Amino acid sequence: MASPWPRRPRLVAGNWKMHKTPAEGAALAREFVALAAADPAGKGCEVAVCPPFTALAAVGEALRGTGVHLGAQNMHAETHGAFTGEIAGSMLAAVGCRFVILGHSERRHGMGETDEQVAKKLRAALRDDLTPIVCVGELLAEREGGKTTEVLVRQIAAAYAGLDAATTRTTVIAYEPVWAIGTGKVATTEQARDAHRVIRATLDQTVGAGVGSEVAILYGGSVNAGNAATLFAENDIDGALVGGASLEAASFWKIAAAAR
Ligand code: PGA
Repeated sequence: MASPWPRRPRLVAGNWKMHKTPAEGAALAREFVALAAADPAGKGCEVAVCPPFTALAAVGEALRGTGVHLGAQNMHAETHGAFTGEIAGSMLAAVGCRFVILGHSERRHGMGETDEQVAKKLRAALRDDLTPIVCVGELLAEREGGKTTEVLVRQIAAAYAGLDAATTRTTVIAYEPVWAIGTGKVATTEQARDAHRVIRATLDQTVGAGVGSEVAILYGGSVNAGNAATLFAENDIDGALVGGASLEAASFWKIAAAAR
């Protein structure tokens, strides 16, 4: 069945987490670009890779002129100052980043990042001309306790309260159930679709009617070359945030090609 037109933008973003030196990252980026150039099947889907901070410059250089975007995995909300170990959004933009992942579950649950901090970072990313990929998702205990909707509504409402519709449309959201990240346990298409619909309805309520259907929402959590096409066949899933499978050029390319 043909997808409805106009379609929301599609994006497949690779989250490299704490993997790859500058040299290793540049090599992986070049390998991916060569695959993309040899097979234009992935055209029609935007692709981004998000290396660790230290590899951004080298990977950005390898991606120059290729159309593959560069993204970072986190940023600080302030523009500059005494924040040892932190990186400002303007610094990411200056090194060539187009995207920044915000509120990843490994930061929310591993580093204690709060809804309030994610909201501040979202505004800061927009100020610094970065496209935020705002991550939301429930823990296994929350899903089993019937709290998935409550968690998604809380995380989305906290991040988007006060933003206008035009600004909201420029952002990207990633639904990443925490129990699916790095576990090999991918959400079913129905689970992802239902969560994406909750997110869209929450955007309608928080920002304004109709906005929810216009924002690109990615699914993340154990996406691989074998399950991507099934997920992307669901109209509410506009792409993927990919961890493990983005560390290998061939599997990441297959995922991008499946999203076209
Ligand atoms: P995974 O990670 O694809 O390895 O499950 C996804 C993510 O953390 O964004």
